[in-house]
Amino acid sequence: MVKRVGILTGGGDCPGLNAVIRGAVRTLIREYKCEVVGIELGFEGLMQGRGYPMTLDAVRGILHKGGTLLRTSNRGNPFDYPTKDDPNVREDRSAECLDNCRRMGIDALIAIGGEGTLKIADKMGDLGFPIVGVPKTIDNDVRQTDFSFGFQTAVSIATEAIDRLHTTAESHNRVMVLEVMGRHVGWIALHSGIAGGADIILIPEIPYKPEEIAKKIRLRQARGQQFDIIVVAEGAKRDGGDEVWADKGSKRLGGVAFRVAEEIGELSDLEVRVTVLGHLQRGGSPEAIDRVWSTLYGNRAADFVAEGMWGMMTALQNGEIVPVPIKDAIGQLNTVSPDGPLIRTARALGISFGDGR
Ligand code: F6P
Repeated sequence: MVKRVGILTGGGDCPGLNAVIRGAVRTLIREYKCEVVGIELGFEGLMQGRGYPMTLDAVRGILHKGGTLLRTSNRGNPFDYPTKDDPNVREDRSAECLDNCRRMGIDALIAIGGEGTLKIADKMGDLGFPIVGVPKTIDNDVRQTDFSFGFQTAVSIATEAIDRLHTTAESHNRVMVLEVMGRHVGWIALHSGIAGGADIILIPEIPYKPEEIAKKIRLRQARGQQFDIIVVAEGAKRDGGDEVWADKGSKRLGGVAFRVAEEIGELSDLEVRVTVLGHLQRGGSPEAIDRVWSTLYGNRAADFVAEGMWGMMTALQNGEIVPVPIKDAIGQLNTVSPDGPLIRTARALGISFGDGR
């Protein structure tokens, strides 16, 4: 029987992480009489053996708070970790990670994170370590779950930004280009663009043509609408072109809005302004809906531990949190279907995806 459970958050932070931690810790202690060890800084912390006992007191007052009490890191993959002698050379040091778990008396681990963290969790599971995953990402790019927590909050923040850009765009007869996050998928752009009434939405799944954007702007001008709102996902790319990187080495996307602005500037006489929303989409309090789902995600992760459902991930499917193998959720991303219902609705309402359809 599992007595002591470790819990960690890996990858970028996301609204709702604290609510998941709280849901898991409270359930583990109250329902299953387990002890809980909080691992700081994700797998990096586990490699360094950084754990502390988590009590009910430790998770009091955190439900509404953004960020993560346990802090997080997108470094520290134990299977590709810097060697002791040379930080530039990497090797598989997962055995040390397992040793640290043993040393801390951890019988099982709950790993809350996105694709990267879940891949590590899956490999640890393959080594025989009892592990349960919880999908986390504002990008909504993890498969097998209808929505990952944090996504709805990010969409609301982006929608508010669009609302604010609308009034200033209208006052000045300008084209406003808003760049939102999402890595290689367009969920945040699509949802916030529809919610905010964008005129043009550019997503990685539908490569755009600058002349089609310009055509849409001219069409609106001919109808007397002298401003435009363009929402562009950071991973969007021009037809036949590549994604725009802020830092290719560290695989950080960013800057596509400036490229789009330049392209439109050459084809239209309207003034163009760019806003990059950035980490505002990740910081701060989770919305009520994310607090509810996060609480359920945490609670069910604790249930899965108690039931010995190793290698499983908590997934939201049709209003319920169900177990799915971590293996089924990783590898491929949850992308927007270019012919899916949301795209069809958006097109029917006159939103352009810059592809001329
Ligand atoms: O995966 C979440 C996310 O916010 C992406 O949308 C974005 O591309 C990336 O993380 C930014 O990463 P960082 O916090 O390292 O700048």
